[in-house]
Amino acid sequence: MAATETAAMGSATAQPGWSSRTAFVLAAIGAAVGLGNVWRFPTLAGESGGGAFVIFYVACVVLIGLPLILSEVMIGRAGNTDAVGSIRKISELSGSNPRWKYFGVIGVVAAFLILSFYSVVAGWVVYYIGVMGADLVANLGNGDLFGGALQAETTAQVQGRMGALFENVELLITMHLIFMGITLWVVSRGVTEGIEKAATYLMPTFFVLLIGITIYGGIVGDMGEALRFMFSPDFSKLTPQVMNTALGQAFFSLSLGVAGLITYGSYVSRDTPLGTTSGMIAFADTAVALIAGLMIFPIVFAVGLDPAAGPTLVFQSLPIAFQQMPAGSVVGFLFFVLIFFAALTSSISLLEVPTAWGIGEMGWSRRTSSLVFGGGAFVVGIACLLSLNVWSDFKPLAFWPIFEDLAIMDALDGFTGKVMLPLGALLTSIFVGWIADRKLVRAESGLGSSMFGVWRFLIAWLCPIAVTLILVFGLFPGLIG
Ligand code: PFF
Repeated sequence: MAATETAAMGSATAQPGWSSRTAFVLAAIGAAVGLGNVWRFPTLAGESGGGAFVIFYVACVVLIGLPLILSEVMIGRAGNTDAVGSIRKISELSGSNPRWKYFGVIGVVAAFLILSFYSVVAGWVVYYIGVMGADLVANLGNGDLFGGALQAETTAQVQGRMGALFENVELLITMHLIFMGITLWVVSRGVTEGIEKAATYLMPTFFVLLIGITIYGGIVGDMGEALRFMFSPDFSKLTPQVMNTALGQAFFSLSLGVAGLITYGSYVSRDTPLGTTSGMIAFADTAVALIAGLMIFPIVFAVGLDPAAGPTLVFQSLPIAFQQMPAGSVVGFLFFVLIFFAALTSSISLLEVPTAWGIGEMGWSRRTSSLVFGGGAFVVGIACLLSLNVWSDFKPLAFWPIFEDLAIMDALDGFTGKVMLPLGALLTSIFVGWIADRKLVRAESGLGSSMFGVWRFLIAWLCPIAVTLILVFGLFPGLIG
């Protein structure tokens, strides 16, 4: 009987599982907290004018993100296999069209594409760890523990480092390779031995560093200006473009729409309460994004740098600040270690999505599957990093006005963030709200009847309508004249 049941579930091997609820929570928070929080969020908040963006972002997390987190984890736990297989299984159990599984495919492809450029950016972090680490060792050798970073260089030289890195293809490839190699190593070790262990060590250390550097910024930086910048809203800046960016960022930061939480959800035990656990993930991720802003902007304002510097804010502006600030050498090094830890636990989850697909749908071993997708994303990543230099004139989405000026890496970032993730999220909400069997959904959610009512309203009505509107107006700004 048991054997027949296993066979009916269509999976040849038993699904692995987290060893505890804490392990799942840490791994899921690790997936959510990443470059999206400490690099992309402050960058976008800075470029989009601060307060209004931040408030709209938090609304997106609570009203759209949180219901979707619960939906994805539920699909994974109910399906108990990779994302595509889980959606297919729920479709079958609900008597609906198995072709719904294709929205899982969108997620798997999106995770693979995001991983490719994510690893390139994380490679820059590896480079700065090397630069700041060497500087720190030299300073310690001189007994200069409280000195600024990179004292031997002029400000122009520090600022020029990023441009020089972007020109150096071999160096970019080496850093990208190191980061992807570590990601691949962890994922190939499996759910408990690799992913869970990494999260259990890295996430607590990350939180200690985050709080420590924020306190440092509060003491030596300009916290008042940072608070004003992040929380005093100017709603005239809330254009449809900005709303689309904020929603896309909420999806990216919460790891939604790429089947990441479906995959991690498939390893969750039946006795885990999904509602409170989803709330913890959303809360932690949003808190980290806000705290990361409060870690970075006081330092930026203290030395009079531009908060709207864009993607170079963290890599180009902050080292200049660390050069001028007390103990900048130590703090600068720890700052990049913090970003590295955040990026690694996220890239692990990005690689796990296609890896689980290869295991569940193709019958590959974990080792083969992770190697195929990790290796593939490494190659696509090389195209991304070449777009920083030799291929900078190639604009792959030139036919689409809002993407027309973007080279490969920015185009992939824009297309996944503004099109694929919202589309994945839209289809998830329609699937869970309307297609999947209502009784199954209700039992799996574990919510009491009034909470279930609220959640169902959000997932079946608000999510699809809001995501569609923001998608359409964000992607085709001409429609609203
Ligand atoms: N949430 C991650 C971040 O904020 O950096 C990025 C990410 C990880 C997106 C995992 C999607 C995913 F499945």
